[in-house]
Amino acid sequence: MTPKRERVREMFGRVAARYDRLNSLLSLGLHHRWRRVAVRHCRFPPGGLALDVAAGTGDFAIETIGADGRAVGVDPCAPMLAAGLPKLRERGLDHRVQMVVGEAEHLPVASNRFDCATIGFGLRNVTDVEATFREMTRAVRPEGRVVALEISRPRNPLFRPLFLFYFYRLSPWLARLFGGDPDAYTYLPNSVKTFYSREELAEMMRRAGLVDVYWRDLSGGAVCLHVGTKPAETAGHTRSQGESLAIIR
Ligand SMILES: C[S@@+](CC[C@H](N)C(=O)[O-])C[C@H]1O[C@@H](n2cnc3c(N)ncnc32)[C@H](O)[C@@H]1O
Repeated sequence: MTPKRERVREMFGRVAARYDRLNSLLSLGLHHRWRRVAVRHCRFPPGGLALDVAAGTGDFAIETIGADGRAVGVDPCAPMLAAGLPKLRERGLDHRVQMVVGEAEHLPVASNRFDCATIGFGLRNVTDVEATFREMTRAVRPEGRVVALEISRPRNPLFRPLFLFYFYRLSPWLARLFGGDPDAYTYLPNSVKTFYSREELAEMMRRAGLVDVYWRDLSGGAVCLHVGTKPAETAGHTRSQGESLAIIR
């Protein structure tokens, strides 16, 4: 395992039990809204099948599937997936969301199966962003969407210093105060500092085979949503209807 893979996995293992609480605290409760906006760009059909990569405790999958959809969540950190299971059970979703241990760069799922593939606040953590987009593109059906949400650097010169102060100074302190892992919440701002620009991410999506790629800034650009569509295709492909969740390779 590369050092980053090991470090990230161990880190999320340590924060898993407190992840949902800290996520709400540090995002000032906005993370649900960001996912709700993202889901509007998924073009997820009633009764559809979603793939959520870097699924963590399952919030993106839950938001996507609505009243009658189904989802597979993939994440290499078993404690994160386990921390989400009580939430799925409480909402009666455990039979509609299947959590699988696996990595974004080698998704353990079949090709052309999913109506959309999402990744929420996971791109910064994978070791190979372009391979992640390639895998998500492989997994969705033709005309299916790949949707990524990620923390970003605001471009507005008035808002940026406020955001940077909050993100680099205040949020690690808050995380520590509320029992978060100090390493984890120092890693978070640093991982954003060294992350790709909006344009670079869009270009990677195109190289992965997606078309009609666009992005939208949310909350003044503190978060950015990237969307791409798998080209329509291909002789021989038929959309899966009413099949079981037997989609794991
Ligand atoms: C910040 S959490 C996001 C969880 C969830 N998507 C959300 O919106 O709350 C990042 C997740 O990325 C996962 N992760 C780290 N490396 C990964 C990889 N190579 N492939 C897939 N997921 C990975 C971590 O285990 C963690 O659960």
